[in-house]
Amino acid sequence: MATTSTLSTPDLLEQVRLAGSPPKHVAIIMDGNGRWARERLMPRPFGHRSGMKAVREVVHGAIEAGLQHLSLFAFSQENWQRPTTEVSALMSLLEEYIAREVAELSERGVRVRILGERDRLTDGARKAVEMVERTTAHNDTLTLNIFISYGSRTELVRATQSLARDVAQGIMSPDDIDEDAISGRLMTAGMPDPDLLIRTSGEQRVSNFLLWQLAYTEFYISGVLWPDFGRRDLFTAILDYKRRERRYGKVSV
Ligand code: FPP
Repeated sequence: MATTSTLSTPDLLEQVRLAGSPPKHVAIIMDGNGRWARERLMPRPFGHRSGMKAVREVVHGAIEAGLQHLSLFAFSQENWQRPTTEVSALMSLLEEYIAREVAELSERGVRVRILGERDRLTDGARKAVEMVERTTAHNDTLTLNIFISYGSRTELVRATQSLARDVAQGIMSPDDIDEDAISGRLMTAGMPDPDLLIRTSGEQRVSNFLLWQLAYTEFYISGVLWPDFGRRDLFTAILDYKRRERRYGKVSV
């Protein structure tokens, strides 16, 4: 019998479809752009540019696989500490990605949302972000969540402050604070938690990404560096996920 590694990409997609309902929400920590560039004796932004092509490929794969939400961690709050040239290159790439892809994303029914501290983005990037969100707001085939200048602990701090303010003003009581109340104050409010988290490049860390939302998420570590990650890698991860038994802390029946 053919293993996933010997199947063609269309056959892998067929396997994904035969495996039944796909995960609703897949989150990806895109890692390894710098190493990919270094292996080619090129500067780091060269890896990010190739990483942008992988984003395009994976978005198409997510539509084919029938995902409802795809969340990509593109830039963390900690990433602001990288050299200015690299940060500028990433901001420009975001603008370029949006300008290049907005028409096709719209046509394919993709809604784009940008999550993170957008006040810190360059003017150009912020305008591009507002434009793509506005243009794609009514689409519902796939929601593409791009996390930029995002940190999960800050998100939790903000949610806590917002609840505390409501308690202080008598709008709610401390006893009203439950899991739904906290989830409802996060940037991901209204979205299902990720079923599957993929991290590329072999690293095995969460890196301050969706700490609350990943409580019961299945993890899949891929050894592939992000610029080389394609739809067949996405399909392979989904098939691996479909073979797992999710117990949410209970025992199997
Ligand atoms: C991590 O690799 C990757 C990033 C910090 C940036 C991710 C950006 C992209 C994929 C391109 C632009 C994205 C969009 C959505 C337009 P790293 O640089 O930490 O790699 P390393 O660990 O090998 O150094």
